[in-house]
Amino acid sequence: MTDEPTAAASITVCHRGPLLIRGDFDLLDDEGNPIDAGRTTIALCRCGHSGRKPFCDGTHKRIYGTADD
Ligand code: FES
Repeated sequence: MTDEPTAAASITVCHRGPLLIRGDFDLLDDEGNPIDAGRTTIALCRCGHSGRKPFCDGTHKRIYGTADD
């Protein structure tokens, strides 16, 4: 990363992996109900294979390999 984020939250798209959300954010389900993220940095699954959606559980590594593959 070249610059510090200026927004309240930042979203990092991980190669073959999750979206990393850092900062002050609200996480809501598809009906607008809050989901307790429990922390200020979370990884949201974008591969669709996590066993604990919406959070990443690392399954993407088994499916797509690591970023170095
Ligand atoms: S992105 Fe990690 S399990 Fe889907």
